[in-house]
Amino acid sequence: PARLAILLSGRGSNMLALAEAVRAGALRGVAEIAVVFSNDPAAPGLESAAALGLPTASLPSKGRKRESFDLEVVDRLKEYQPDYVVLAGYMRVLSPAFVRAFAGRIVNIHPADTHQHQGLHAYEWAFDNRLSETKITVHLVDEGLDTGPILAQQVVNLVGADTLAEVQRRGLAVEHTLYANTLADLIRKEG
Ligand code: GAR
Repeated sequence: PARLAILLSGRGSNMLALAEAVRAGALRGVAEIAVVFSNDPAAPGLESAAALGLPTASLPSKGRKRESFDLEVVDRLKEYQPDYVVLAGYMRVLSPAFVRAFAGRIVNIHPADTHQHQGLHAYEWAFDNRLSETKITVHLVDEGLDTGPILAQQVVNLVGADTLAEVQRRGLAVEHTLYANTLADLIRKEG
């Protein structure tokens, strides 16, 4: 199975969905979770991962310069020999040195169409603009901000979603299936 390093900064619901897909879903026999890493040692997602018995690691990014922090993260991740670096709510822009260290092997999920919205707060953006739909995007990470080649997109119907919480609920439900399915396709294709 392909070895995944999952990177998160917060809640970790996508990490949990991926772990479940490895256990009994689209990623079963296809991937394994080599490590769950966070730039915040207090991230709730780290604790959830540890509770599942997954290997975890963290390095606090607070107060660190991007490049030197990222180089340290790269070294740390390499200890786990990941085939893919899977960003799951990892709220940091990766430095070029990080991207080059795992070139073509870093995958991100963005909760909007990356052609229309980049960066943080994508659900707030969809809600504030009263969009009738938004598009979840899974893409490879390049050196730009949410500019890498798109692997898959799925529409989320937002008609009647009249709170931000409802927008997020509908979006996350799509994220949780799309991410595992897309990774499974990618890993199968690349062998
Ligand atoms: C998810 O909605 C993810 O798509 C988003 O952060 C949330 C993390 O939730 N990522 C970004 O906005 C990246 N720019 P989770 O920690 O429960 O998976």
